[in-house]
Amino acid sequence: MHRRHLTAAALAAALLAAWPVAAQDTVKIGLILPMTGPSASTGREIEAAAKLYLQQNGTTVAGKTIELIVRDDTGTADVTKRLAQELVVKDKVSVLAGFGLTPLAAAAAPIATQAKVPQVIMAAATAVTTEASPFIVRTSFTLPQVTVPLAEWSAQNGIKTVVTLVSDYAPGLDAQKAFAERFGKAGGTVVEQLQVPLKNPDFAPFLQRVADAKPDAVFVFVPSGFGAVFMKQFVERGLDKSGIRLIATGDVTDDELLDKIGDVALGTITTHHYSAAHDSAENKAFVQAFQAANGGMRPNFMAVGGYDGMHLIIEALKKTNGATDGQGLVDAMKGMSWTSVRGPVSIDPDTRDIIQNVYVRKVEKRDGGLYNVEFATIEAVKDPVKAAK
Ligand code: DHB
Repeated sequence: MHRRHLTAAALAAALLAAWPVAAQDTVKIGLILPMTGPSASTGREIEAAAKLYLQQNGTTVAGKTIELIVRDDTGTADVTKRLAQELVVKDKVSVLAGFGLTPLAAAAAPIATQAKVPQVIMAAATAVTTEASPFIVRTSFTLPQVTVPLAEWSAQNGIKTVVTLVSDYAPGLDAQKAFAERFGKAGGTVVEQLQVPLKNPDFAPFLQRVADAKPDAVFVFVPSGFGAVFMKQFVERGLDKSGIRLIATGDVTDDELLDKIGDVALGTITTHHYSAAHDSAENKAFVQAFQAANGGMRPNFMAVGGYDGMHLIIEALKKTNGATDGQGLVDAMKGMSWTSVRGPVSIDPDTRDIIQNVYVRKVEKRDGGLYNVEFATIEAVKDPVKAAK
């Protein structure tokens, strides 16, 4: 009896002693994503990529176990903020990551600053977003970064007049401004700038204005997941047969949607930082593994932002030897460079934004599917908005 009592007490003591050690031995990453709602594809792609990264690279770093906690913010900024708070206070995450849309990333930034927790942005792409907190590091892209090369390509390829048509929120306005400035400098004329509501967009009246203006080309940005709706209305309005060329950021010819959009997309010129058709050994292995693990789903640029975001976090933890101090992790991330499946990338130590190649692509048929086939590369592009400051 006495002996049994002691054993139980000893066991309890052992458990108590072991508990804090076990807690310290786990590094938690809070991944906040829109898993439902109109941007659910962004959540689906990033979650799949983050999990694939851990499957391939293991969950032990510097003797610590990596635990990924995924939360659905439904694409609503208030929810993002609440989840960020809970993850920091209750779950004690060492890193916040994800952020499918600019307003969601902005909502979490004050939490990252207060808690001194790195905020790795894997999706949102408005240029100024990284300035919302010194703890933000970004592995996606910026709209001006991918738009400026398209403005230049257009001016060099016989396009003289353009109407711009974008989703009416920060990244759309960023793209519109970047296009107009660079195209104007290169001798082109933007004849009209149109903004379409982000929620439940009806493109029809705006496409009518494009048709009436008869520009050489229409430049388009809509966020990931919205390209199919846009293209459907583009065809319904007869724009595909109007002689007006469609040029866009790669968000429109999103790899996950391209086959659904169909042959009407053939020939569309876009600029972006990632194509599932990117010709490298690293990318071929990535696409194959991603599709095998996800029922054939094709990885898009969001998946790559997630995959590289995990790489950044894990490599930073290796550099700090497992230490999770927020400033230490951010410092470890600054200046890091690696071979991504998109090509060579690095984190600009001054802006904490990603420096990467931007590719000019054309939608073509390959192996029975539609792909953004890269045909020109602009190397090591920095976000032009912050580079100009
Ligand atoms: C943003 C979201 C997207 O889905 C995208 O393709 C580009 C930018 C954003 O909200 O920042």
